Amino acid sequence: CGDESRRAAEALVNSSHSIAFTGAGVSTESGIPDFRGPNGLWRRFDPRMASVEYFLDDPRGFWAFYSARFKFMLSAKPNAAHFALAELERMGLIKAVITQNVDGLHSAAGSVKVIEIHGSSRTVRCSRCGARASFEDALRLYEETSEPPRCSCGGIYRPDVVLFGEPVVRLGEALDEARRSDLVLVVGSSLTVHPAAEIPLLVKERGGSLLIINMEPTEYDDLADVVIHCPAGKALESVLRKSKEIIESR
Ligand code: APR
Repeated sequence: CGDESRRAAEALVNSSHSIAFTGAGVSTESGIPDFRGPNGLWRRFDPRMASVEYFLDDPRGFWAFYSARFKFMLSAKPNAAHFALAELERMGLIKAVITQNVDGLHSAAGSVKVIEIHGSSRTVRCSRCGARASFEDALRLYEETSEPPRCSCGGIYRPDVVLFGEPVVRLGEALDEARRSDLVLVVGSSLTVHPAAEIPLLVKERGGSLLIINMEPTEYDDLADVVIHCPAGKALESVLRKSKEIIESR
């Protein structure tokens, strides 16, 4: 991780508008499994479990799958990677975090500008009238009745996350952020899911720098200016430390 993180720090310090783009890999050190890594969700479950048609076909089975996963997500805590990104934002080196994650850990770590393009696990919405409620309240209802929780209008609640077959949310805002960036730091994403994965590509296509921190090779490694195949927490702490050294030596 060493010398590559120095190159990443130099690029960050010399950039004028950098953003971070994160995926499930930034939260595995908080105990939340990713999708396609060695212990990934899709190696154990059929991705169909996370689709809208499954929710409509079998709301009971859907809520059994989601309540278990999102319940433990409620108790997850930010890890070194989230804290390092929040510090880089305070230093003015990262202007925004665009994340595919729904665990809320970037905000919990202190990041201010966070664009959640796959929604949030913290709230649910009624599939009939759209009314929102907290996931904790819906979970309590579910655990009391063992039935999919319902809104007062009678509609069934669904998580406020992007399911398979649904458009990502706040995509316009994320693309605007990418358009004004001259550097994107990808952390913990296999960059396999679209349109999300087009966001870092847009920065590169417009002449910006692409930096990737990921345990395994990603789809865009050969396009990247810097690739760090190391755990996100360690790699980001090293980039943060080296950025501070460069700034202090000026
Ligand atoms: N440090 C660095 N990288 C890590 C770590 C870690 N501690 N843990 C896992 N990774 C890497 C894995 O090697 C993997 O390549 O993070 C990457 C996570 O990729 P995915 O599991 O594909 O997760 P993500 O890219 O966020 O998936 C995108 O797919 O199913 C949908 O909506 C879901 O948001 C998700 C989207």
